[in-house]
Amino acid sequence: MKRFEGKTALITGASRGIGRAIAELLSREGAHIVLNFVRNEEAACKTEKALTNNGARVLKIQANVGNPKEAQTLVEEAGKAFGKIDILVHNAALGAFKPVSELRVNQWDLSLDVNTKALLVLAQSALPWMEKEGGSIITLSSLGSKRYIPNYGAIGISKAALEALVRYLAVELAPKKIRVNAVSGGLVDTDAIQSFPHIDNLKKEVVRRTPANRIGKPEDLAKVVAFLASEEAAWIYGQTITADGGLSLI
Ligand SMILES: NC(=O)c1ccc[n+]([C@@H]2O[C@H](COP(=O)([O-])OP(=O)(O)OC[C@H]3O[C@@H](n4cnc5c(N)ncnc54)[C@H](OP(=O)(O)O)[C@@H]3O)[C@@H](O)[C@H]2O)c1
Repeated sequence: MKRFEGKTALITGASRGIGRAIAELLSREGAHIVLNFVRNEEAACKTEKALTNNGARVLKIQANVGNPKEAQTLVEEAGKAFGKIDILVHNAALGAFKPVSELRVNQWDLSLDVNTKALLVLAQSALPWMEKEGGSIITLSSLGSKRYIPNYGAIGISKAALEALVRYLAVELAPKKIRVNAVSGGLVDTDAIQSFPHIDNLKKEVVRRTPANRIGKPEDLAKVVAFLASEEAAWIYGQTITADGGLSLI
């Protein structure tokens, strides 16, 4: 018996990177997938094909989750297509890489809208589709939520608020049998980090400081997301689980 047989998972930003790895893992374990993306149709189509090959029913939906109306419509279309949502993963994120002292207000708003406010809207919209059978809501955070990482303020601050939102949602949704948690990671090898200033030096430095002696792979975080979505995590509420090869210990 596969872990997610008969389950429906909506994953934001599932076309590439960590979102794609989550979608692939959940689909291999039996879940049907609502694959959200915003711009990169080609990547979304490739991922859709991979998920279909895993035997999943896939619904691909283009939506900017930073726009509350689009986020609501995304959830509604997913719910109507599958009749329920068992797993909601808010993975999509973005942000300007620059010092906070130079951050423009519209750049601050963009990160908070896409990375944080979207979870509020997605979770609220998912309730009618989740509350009958219960479910699991999971989001992605990063070490910059708790510590200073140069040029990472826009995202780090949005992730700090996201982790707090996870705790509030976890308490309020627990009576509905909905668990809310987050997975946090160090540097993970995806497209997102390519525009980070001095990325090659940063990678070397992170490898040097990481006890496990490498940077993260998308699958490293996907496995933890799958665990949190599974029955094995039935007693875990409102936590941010860190998977970083030990980087944050040092
Ligand atoms: N990479 C890291 O080092 C790292 C470490 C820890 C945590 N994380 C977290 O893991 C998550 C995924 O990161 P990643 O590195 O895999 O990112 P990525 O490679 O940049 O992929 C981002 C994904 O999000 C989608 N997306 C971006 N803005 C969106 C929006 N407004 N509405 C809907 N979808 C949107 C993109 O869609 P398109 O393909 O259409 O552009 C893409 O599928 C993020 O929450 C990130 O903060 C990343």
